[in-house]
Amino acid sequence: MKIDNSIDYNQLSNILNKYKQEKRFTLAILQDIQTEFNYIPKEAVFHLAEYLNIPVSEIYSMATFYKALSLTPKGKHIIKVCNGTACHIRGSNILIDEIKDLLKIKPGETTADGLFSLEIVNCLGACALAPVMVIDNKYYGAMTKEKIMEVINEYKEAAYD
Ligand code: FES
Repeated sequence: MKIDNSIDYNQLSNILNKYKQEKRFTLAILQDIQTEFNYIPKEAVFHLAEYLNIPVSEIYSMATFYKALSLTPKGKHIIKVCNGTACHIRGSNILIDEIKDLLKIKPGETTADGLFSLEIVNCLGACALAPVMVIDNKYYGAMTKEKIMEVINEYKEAAYD
């Protein structure tokens, strides 16, 4: 399975048409684009610049400033490993190394098949379950190397079945 990163211009038009051609809507439009495409495609940046009649560089600087926006495609599943204090004490680094080994990616990267992205985050508010990993919005507590392999395999099987 390969995630298709080509941009659907109808989807983009639907987003742009919701907003007046005013600069104050730049961030809101970028957030919608991020939600729709899971990242901010280059083509969308150029279209938005034209639509709002503002420089492309201005949109790029906004897209790089806000953490919720990404200029590179994210995986279908976002794996977040908590490296807050409680999780760190209980071995989150071992989990991070295991995921890096299993998926051959570093934090901030996406697997070649587009299935997973890995992010390291601070406290996820579930310290009692440390060490904690979240995939999309699902929490996995008391994680071990063995459990990680099982969970990741479940997602792979679901994607490739
Ligand atoms: S430190 Fe990991 S959930 Fe709080």
